[in-house]
Amino acid sequence: MVSPTKEVVTSASRMINPMTSPLSPLSVVSNEMETLTKNITKLIGSGHPILNRISGYYFEQEGKKVRPLLVLLLSKALAEIPLNKRTRVIVDMNDIPNDPVYGNKTSDSLFENPVSNFSPLNILHGIKSISSPLTKGSEPLSTSVKELDMANGILPKQRRLAEIVEMIHTASLLHDDVIDFSDQRRGRPSGNFQFSNKMAVLAGDFLLGRSVVAISRLRNSEVIELISNCIANLVEGEFMQLKNTVIDRDQLSLMTGNKQKLIPKPTGKELDIGHDFKIQKLENNSNHTEKLQHDILIKLAFDHYLHKTYLKTASLISKSLRSTAILSGSDELTIDSCYEFGKNIGICFQLVDDLLDYTQDAKILGKPANNDLKLGLATAPVLFAWKMNPQLGSVIEKSSFSNEDIDIILENVYKYNTVEMTRNLALEYRDKALKNLHETLPKSKARDALEILTMSIMTRKK
Ligand code: FPP
Ligand code: MG
Repeated sequence: MVSPTKEVVTSASRMINPMTSPLSPLSVVSNEMETLTKNITKLIGSGHPILNRISGYYFEQEGKKVRPLLVLLLSKALAEIPLNKRTRVIVDMNDIPNDPVYGNKTSDSLFENPVSNFSPLNILHGIKSISSPLTKGSEPLSTSVKELDMANGILPKQRRLAEIVEMIHTASLLHDDVIDFSDQRRGRPSGNFQFSNKMAVLAGDFLLGRSVVAISRLRNSEVIELISNCIANLVEGEFMQLKNTVIDRDQLSLMTGNKQKLIPKPTGKELDIGHDFKIQKLENNSNHTEKLQHDILIKLAFDHYLHKTYLKTASLISKSLRSTAILSGSDELTIDSCYEFGKNIGICFQLVDDLLDYTQDAKILGKPANNDLKLGLATAPVLFAWKMNPQLGSVIEKSSFSNEDIDIILENVYKYNTVEMTRNLALEYRDKALKNLHETLPKSKARDALEILTMSIMTRKK
């Protein structure tokens, strides 16, 4: 593993204390962040007051807004690259030779507004008149917003991307709280608790629908592909988390090359535990897991966990930062580094989230603490405990944990100080992210702000 130069970490550490730092990441894009929620509200307006209430519910309370903050700061940092060095062909003209929308591209196209619609409005509005608020979808950005952004080097499509990313994240939270049986989010009743599971799921779907409309209006097929892929990745990640398949004996046989057919079978307990299916136990392979070495098992468990972490958290961050670079017209190398930065900071962010579940109390988190264990989830602190104490395997491989199981796991987590091991793993990803930033971007106020933000992930309290 490559670690960044010592100076990078030292200089970033110096800036980390918001009290002593002349910069705070938010202050660099505070105007843009202030209008974010207002713009999102316009994107999600519908003709249904109750739907409006629920889909807007999580935007009413201040969240961390890390994803749009990253997109906006990166946009600003990329703006420091001179236009004549942003050499990448944004649209492949071979695909659409005579297209009126994409024709005659010049660098001016970088500054284009997202369009308000492609299809005629009467089609989008269906059988309602076009003055009806139904299915209005995205509005182009107002001239004042556009002018402000241009002065700050943020492109209209990058700003819209920041809004889209927050909408997708919020949709996933509405669904996640149903899956996790949550009753709290951001210090108040969660969407499902307040409005019912059905309404929360539908509101999440609606946010996704509106996000997809807005993505298509960015008119960049590469970005459409990336962001749509994130939505699928979020579901894949969540699915992997539903059942910690790597420590499921039968799934393990699949991962280690045994091609026996797995037949999913309803357990009848779906409503209790939130799993759709349990994998049917296979005959004749009960000794298979026992034969595997403990360290191989741990490696597989970490591979699975980190893959899940990428899909669940880092995918949206990394692919949206890649999209930010694509929209800036930057070259391939810059695009790749922005993606790597997003991947590393995203994994670091989730590792810290997973350790906070063990160290922080519910009041600070604004949601229940020790919740992962209550949900039967084996995150990094548990996997490190298992690494230290192989005997823990028989507890961890259960699909849900009793209070006694939780006590045993917690005892091992504290005994081996695996929270600290998790913190060290997060630090490795943070350092890689800092290195990506320095390799990619010219020095600027926005890059400093990205650095501080990266550093602050390790010290966040919620
Ligand atoms: C929070 O995790 C949840 C996520 C980061 C992603 C959830 C994804 C889905 C529910 C798939 C559906 C996706 C879409 C786009 C509708 P957490 O439970 O660890 O965090 P928490 O403690 O904040 O709830
Ligand atoms: Mg959750």
